[in-house]
Amino acid sequence: VAVTFVGADGSARQCSGTAGESLMRAAVRTGIREILAECGGIAACATCHCYVEPPWDQRLDPRSDVEEAMLEAALEPTEFSRLSCQITLSPALDGLVVRLPADQI
Ligand code: FES
Repeated sequence: VAVTFVGADGSARQCSGTAGESLMRAAVRTGIREILAECGGIAACATCHCYVEPPWDQRLDPRSDVEEAMLEAALEPTEFSRLSCQITLSPALDGLVVRLPADQI
């Protein structure tokens, strides 16, 4: 599953994720430093926050109540904000484009 991470400075980094793994895991494995994922993927830290580029945002499952609540704690949330640990990669997401926040701290 090909994923492109676009940094706050506009630089693009490619990542190859495995179907069934979370976007957060794929990012950490690839060394995307903006994705801190301090809670390890249980939707409890918001440091895996990212912005899913349209139209990809429409292809994701809706946010859960827990994800919604955590995103309120993220820095500069927008309508495209998601917790990358709550996105499961699948063949349908091949080509996914995600923007990274400048800083998660
Ligand atoms: Fe903590 Fe996603 S890794 S909320």
